[in-house]
Amino acid sequence: MIRRVLLLAHRVPVAGGFSLNDLAGAGGRMDEVARAVSTAFTVSNGLRRDTELTILFVAEPPPRARRIRLRGDGLRYLNPDERSTAALLKNALVRSSTLPHDLEASPGLVVGPVDPAAAITEFARRESTVWLSEDAAPYVAPASAPPSIGAILSDPQDPTPEEASLLKALGVVLASLGPVRLRASQCIDVLHNRWDAIPGAGLPDRA
Ligand SMILES: C[S@@+](CC[C@H](N)C(=O)[O-])C[C@H]1O[C@@H](n2cnc3c(N)ncnc32)[C@H](O)[C@@H]1O
Repeated sequence: MIRRVLLLAHRVPVAGGFSLNDLAGAGGRMDEVARAVSTAFTVSNGLRRDTELTILFVAEPPPRARRIRLRGDGLRYLNPDERSTAALLKNALVRSSTLPHDLEASPGLVVGPVDPAAAITEFARRESTVWLSEDAAPYVAPASAPPSIGAILSDPQDPTPEEASLLKALGVVLASLGPVRLRASQCIDVLHNRWDAIPGAGLPDRA
């Protein structure tokens, strides 16, 4: 079962123009985005090779908006700490900022320009994909592992009205992970935990 997560990053400067010393401020909450990467892929003594995380950096519209796709089966140089993960992402954004095409900025990490609405639509149309929201019916995991499972969530800022209308128009099922408003990175932890319990889901390799 391939696990896919789409994260909407609304405030991170799309060309990577921020200091690693100010991830939460000038970095537009890159601290939380980096934590989301960490929770998506790292476990104690291992990596989740069956996971893909797509981050849409939408603080500016196309042609400056950027997408970073990380694939667990190819990832290297991912350490569990937030600062080095933020550095990996920042470096990718900086290198991509003047390129009109995708670039594999480091193993398993592809960055490039994106049309956010098209990327959301493509992601949302995959089977077993939900849109995570605090104000929704409880998430019900499938009884057996589908080939692919996915979730869309937002950074500390809620989806914009345009993103929300697009997701509604696409008919994506809304799902809540519980009554408490969680951070995006915490949602990914909870999701993995729910997905780990699906019979046949597959579990991460141990290092
Ligand atoms: C930090 S929250 C967004 C801000 C939040 N609306 C608030 O008032 O603080 C980030 C994202 O995590 C997801 N999220 C947070 N708590 C959730 C929950 N209990 N169930 C499902 N998704 C949740 C949503 O996608 C949300 O947009």
